[in-house]
Amino acid sequence: MDTDFFEKMAARPDALAFREAEREGVRRVLSRLAPLAGARVVEVGCGNGRLTVPLAEAVSEGGGAGRVWALDPCGGMCGKCREAVAAAGVESAVCLEEASAEGSRAPEGEWDAAVFFRVWPHLGDVEAALERARRWLVPGGRLVVANLQGSAELDAMHARCGAVSAGVSRRMPTAQELAEWLEARGWRVEAVREAADDYWVAARRRTGTDAENVSTNGAGCGRMDNGNHAKEIGVI
Ligand SMILES: C[S@@+](CC[C@H](N)C(=O)[O-])C[C@H]1O[C@@H](n2cnc3c(N)ncnc32)[C@H](O)[C@@H]1O
Repeated sequence: MDTDFFEKMAARPDALAFREAEREGVRRVLSRLAPLAGARVVEVGCGNGRLTVPLAEAVSEGGGAGRVWALDPCGGMCGKCREAVAAAGVESAVCLEEASAEGSRAPEGEWDAAVFFRVWPHLGDVEAALERARRWLVPGGRLVVANLQGSAELDAMHARCGAVSAGVSRRMPTAQELAEWLEARGWRVEAVREAADDYWVAARRRTGTDAENVSTNGAGCGRMDNGNHAKEIGVI
């Protein structure tokens, strides 16, 4: 991916600041992810760490072995995330990787959840990212795709802010389309919610033989052919 768009965004003082109305959405995301104490979570596209910090606080509650593996291909965003994590004092619960989902080196078979929060339309190769998620998760682990807007509202916002013309955002499938696409790839979808200010699709990695459940059919989720690769792993 050309990270210029997000590098410029990361440099802004208000980088990806949540508006008051969105804070409730973030609380909703955290409560839907619960229980998190002791959980091991991969956070894809962590940006400046707005979700990483509360996630890290939640997984380390009770002093357990919970961890967040936060990854983002944009160096500026990773820098902001590192600062936010340090300021909150949750460094011991976070591994930060400057990498795309597709190129991440997060350890496989160790994670209870893979959370794609406000990142799905920016992925270069959704098939590759989904395959990574499948490998990261323990059998029965949960995949979550969440946004703070419905798909139409998000698409309109990306058009307005120039992400579409910059080539860093493609159409967000509706929650129902995404659910069907995941089912066609062998995931067991357990929740599908979409409203103007809400988007939540949760699915479980099946515990049986994946080959039994996988189909290569299912359209509508597209691909931007601008493959990303991990640059480094920085554990903070
Ligand atoms: C709209 S921002 C959201 C950031 C964060 N999730 C938040 O809500 O504050 C999208 C983020 O996705 C990252 N991103 C873009 N392509 C990605 C990819 N292929 N894999 C992982 N993250 C990606 C961008 O660098 C950016 O930080």
